[in-house]
Amino acid sequence: MNYRHGYHAGNAGDVLKHAVMMLVLEHLRAKAKPFVVVDTHAGAGAYRLDGAEAGRTGEWRDGIGRLLDDPDPPAALRPYLDRVRAWRPDGGGVDGLWYPGSPLLARAALRAGDRLVAIEAHAETQATLARVLGRARGVVCRCGDGYRVLAGLLPPPERRGLVLIDPPFEARTEFSDMAEALRGAHRRFPTGQYMLWYPIKDPGLVESFHQTLVDTGIPRMVCVEMTVKPVTTVTGLAGAGLILVNPPWRLDATLGDVLPWLARRLARARGGYWRLDWLRGEDDGARI
Ligand SMILES: C[S@@+](CC[C@H](N)C(=O)[O-])C[C@H]1O[C@@H](n2cnc3c(N)ncnc32)[C@H](O)[C@@H]1O
Repeated sequence: MNYRHGYHAGNAGDVLKHAVMMLVLEHLRAKAKPFVVVDTHAGAGAYRLDGAEAGRTGEWRDGIGRLLDDPDPPAALRPYLDRVRAWRPDGGGVDGLWYPGSPLLARAALRAGDRLVAIEAHAETQATLARVLGRARGVVCRCGDGYRVLAGLLPPPERRGLVLIDPPFEARTEFSDMAEALRGAHRRFPTGQYMLWYPIKDPGLVESFHQTLVDTGIPRMVCVEMTVKPVTTVTGLAGAGLILVNPPWRLDATLGDVLPWLARRLARARGGYWRLDWLRGEDDGARI
């Protein structure tokens, strides 16, 4: 395991993932009933953008760096942008420019009675995450294989919640592992909301991933994608995609406003695109 998210924190793929995650969490918060968030590949939690890792690649400058000073973002994006701007390591007083990762953004959305389970396999990274998350009621940080731990957590007692699956895509089998994990999790917790992140480099791989998902028979699946340059198999990462299972009502309408704005702000070359398509509808099984 060589992947360190610190090199990529705050890039365009993170922005898409975290902006949409915050919208999903807002919908969960709209009902008084408690919910759980399971973050299967949680990372280190917080990243110093001007530090040794993110500072070296500078990827964040073409991601969150293009949005933080925007005077007029879509209203739906404001909670995410405000949270990023406001976040400082606990205790404050720490210099530098920081970006909160998925477990910290999720923790900020919890109300009394809600829970977060953050799982990270890399021991050193998990120790950092545990320190960053601190001791908070309802927050558990575990070291282990996110897919395996997830299986033991479902169905959650709350019967409401979001599972974020955001692996590093180091292994060739990651697309199929992710689809298999979703299949198993959905069997145990069919009413859960799921969010799967994936890189867009090779359109063929993405297409066959979508087909595998359609073949699971899981209903109510939306695909959201945003690329910042043309997709070719030789120029590397062009963008990112998300699969949302059981997306909140009207989220597609909100995203219809947010995605074009994000795609315009984050474009690095002509030829990028955004899309939002239902891979499977309510119960007809058709690809629409
Ligand atoms: C893309 S990063 C996570 C970023 C984080 N979700 C965020 O948005 O801030 C993927 C993380 O998964 C960890 N990881 C790799 N294999 C894992 C596994 N089998 N189970 C749990 N975590 C794993 C890596 O160490 C890395 O920190």
